[in-house]
Amino acid sequence: MQKRYLGKSGLKVSALGLGCMGLSQGYWPATDTRQAIALIRAAVERGVTFFDIAEVYGPYLNEDVVGKALKPLRDRVVIATKFGFNIGNDNKQQMLNSRPEHIREAVEGSLRRLKTDVIDLFYQHRVDPDVPIEDVAGTVKDLIAEGKVKHFGLLEAGAQTVRRAHAIQPVTALQSEYSLWWREPEQEILPLLKELGVGFVPFSPLGRGFLTGTIKAETTFAESDFRKTVPRFSADALKANEKLVILLTELAAERHTTPAQIALAWLMAQKPWIVPIPGTTKLHRLEENLAATEIILTPADLQKITQALETVNIVGERYPAALQAHVGR
Ligand SMILES: NC(=O)c1ccc[n+]([C@@H]2O[C@H](COP(=O)([O-])OP(=O)(O)OC[C@H]3O[C@@H](n4cnc5c(N)ncnc54)[C@H](OP(=O)(O)O)[C@@H]3O)[C@@H](O)[C@H]2O)c1
Repeated sequence: MQKRYLGKSGLKVSALGLGCMGLSQGYWPATDTRQAIALIRAAVERGVTFFDIAEVYGPYLNEDVVGKALKPLRDRVVIATKFGFNIGNDNKQQMLNSRPEHIREAVEGSLRRLKTDVIDLFYQHRVDPDVPIEDVAGTVKDLIAEGKVKHFGLLEAGAQTVRRAHAIQPVTALQSEYSLWWREPEQEILPLLKELGVGFVPFSPLGRGFLTGTIKAETTFAESDFRKTVPRFSADALKANEKLVILLTELAAERHTTPAQIALAWLMAQKPWIVPIPGTTKLHRLEENLAATEIILTPADLQKITQALETVNIVGERYPAALQAHVGR
C-alpha cells in the first residue's frame, strides 16, 4: 500500500485510511464486536495504517472496539480520534464542548478505551463557538508537550479558524466532507491547506454509500440510519442525483473498475496530501476500496470527470437543518 504524508507534519499514513464510524453508529445496525475486530485487523494486513474513530461514535463503543482490535498491532498504525462533545448519561445528548477541562477529561477516556499511552492524531470534532479556537489549540499543544497526543487536527472548520488554530499549534490535518458530490472545500479550504502545509482527510468520500451505485431512489433506510434524516437521501433527491451515478458507472466500466474506485481515485488525484477514509463493514468492499490506490487517473480522465460533473446539479442538503450550524465555522 502506498503511503502519503499529511501536509508538512511528517505524519505518514496509508494512502487510504479506514473510517470506522459505521462499525458502531450511523448506518445501523452496529457490527458485532468480533466481526468488527476481524475487519480492522484484515485492514492492517492489507496495508492500512490509518484508522478514523471518535469518542462520540457509539458513544464510546467505537473507541473500545478499535482499541481492542489494534492493541496487538499498535506500533504499526496511526490512530485518529476526536473530542468536543458532552455525552449525556443517556448517551444521546451531544452538545458541543471544547472547554480545556473537558478536552483533558476526553483525552484520558480515549487513551483508556484505546488501550494506548498516546493518541497519534487528536481532532476537535466540531468547532465550538463558545470556546476561542486559540484555547483549544493551546490545550492540545499542552497535551502534545505532555506526550499524550502527537498531532492536532480540526474538523469541518472554516478557513479563519484553521489559520488561527495553526498559529498556536500547527494543525496536521483538517477533516471535512469532500467527494464527487460535495466539492465546496475546493473553493477556500484546499488553497489554504496548501499554503499552510496542512493535510486533508475527506470524510464520507463515497457520499455515505451513494457514489458506489448501490443506493437507488427506491432504497429505504432504517429509522435509526442517519441517512433517513438527510435531505440529500430523500427519494426525490436520490432520483434527481441518479445522473451522477450513471455517469460514474459509465466511466468505471470504460476503465474496468467500479464507481467506488473512481470516486476514491478521483479524490486521491486532487492532491498528494489528501487521504480519504472510506468506511465499510464488509471485507470484500474494503478490498474493492483499497484497490482504488492502484488506479491512476490521467489528466484526460480527470478532465472528462470534471466535464461530466458540470452537467449534474446535485439536489438536497448534505445535513439535516438542525446540524447545518455545526459545519464550516
Ligand atoms: N467527523 C464527522 O463528522 C464524520 C462524519 C461522517 C463520517 N466521518 C468519518 O468518515 C468515515 C467515512 O465516512 P462514511 O462512513 O460516512 O461514508 P462513506 O465512506 O462515504 O460511505 C460508507 C457507506 O458506503 C458503503 N460502502 C463502502 N464501500 C462500499 C463499496 N465499495 N461498495 C458499496 N458500498 C460501499 C458502506 O456500507 P457497508 O458498511 O455495508 O459496506 C457505508 O454505508 C466514517 O467512518 C468516519 O470515520 C466523520
